[in-house]
Amino acid sequence: MTTTKQAADERDLEDLREWLLREHGETVDPDRLRFVRAEVERIVAEGVPGAVVELGCFRGAMTLWIRSILDALGDDRPVHAFDSFQGLPDSTEEDEIVMPLGAMSASQAEVLATFAERGKTPPLMYPGWFEDTLPTQLPEQIAFGYLDGDLYSSTVVSLAECVPRLALGGAVLFDDYADPEANPLTVVKFPGVKTACDEYFGSPSPVEVLIGEGDLAYGRYVRPLS
Ligand SMILES: C[S@@+](CC[C@H](N)C(=O)[O-])C[C@H]1O[C@@H](n2cnc3c(N)ncnc32)[C@H](O)[C@@H]1O
Repeated sequence: MTTTKQAADERDLEDLREWLLREHGETVDPDRLRFVRAEVERIVAEGVPGAVVELGCFRGAMTLWIRSILDALGDDRPVHAFDSFQGLPDSTEEDEIVMPLGAMSASQAEVLATFAERGKTPPLMYPGWFEDTLPTQLPEQIAFGYLDGDLYSSTVVSLAECVPRLALGGAVLFDDYADPEANPLTVVKFPGVKTACDEYFGSPSPVEVLIGEGDLAYGRYVRPLS
C-alpha cells in the first residue's frame, strides 16, 4: 500500500527529475536517471553495506539525484563526490580523441549551488586528481559507485581503486561505456572508457550493458555475492 509519505516522495522525485532534465541536460537524461535510481534502490533494498560514491561529479546533477533517492528511501549515508574541479586531465592515445585539458570544468561552489537550489544536504567533496585522492580518500567499502571520468586514464584509476572496495552485491555503473554492439544507437564519444574496462575485467567481461530507450549503453558491474 502506498503511504502519504511515499506518494509525496515520488512527487518530489518526479519534480526533481523534470528540473534536472531541464537544467542539467548536458550530463543527465531519462535513461541515466532511471538506471541510477534502480541501482540505488536495489543496494538499499538488499542492505548492501558501504559508501555511495561518484567519481567525476561535475556540477553535481547526478550527485543530487542520488542524494534525493537515498533521502526518499530514508537512507542517510552521505554521497562522496570526487572531482578535480578543474575539468578533465590530458587525454591519451587510448581515448582516440583529443579533449582540451580542463574541459568539463565545474567548481565546488557550483555543486553547492545545485544542492542549495533543491534544499538538499551537499555531498562530501574531495577535490583533486583521481590518482591523488582515490587511493587514500575513497571509503574502504563501497556499495555503489557512479564512474563518470570520461577518459581512459581516469577510468583506469577509478577501476583500480573502486572495484576492489566493492561490498558483496555492490555495483558500479560506467557512464560512456558505450558499446555499439549492444546498442547500435550508441554514439561512442569516449572510447577510452570501454577500453579501460575491457583491459581491467578481461574476457569474457562480467560487465553487463544496460540499454536505454535512447542512445545509452551503460556498463554495470556487480560484485558477486560469493
Ligand atoms: C562528464 S563530467 C561528470 C558528470 C556528472 N557525473 C553528472 O552526471 O552530472 C566528468 C567529470 O569528471 C572529472 N574528471 C575526469 N577525470 C578526472 C580525474 N582524473 N581526476 C579528477 N576529476 C576528473 C571532470 O572534472 C568532470 O567534472
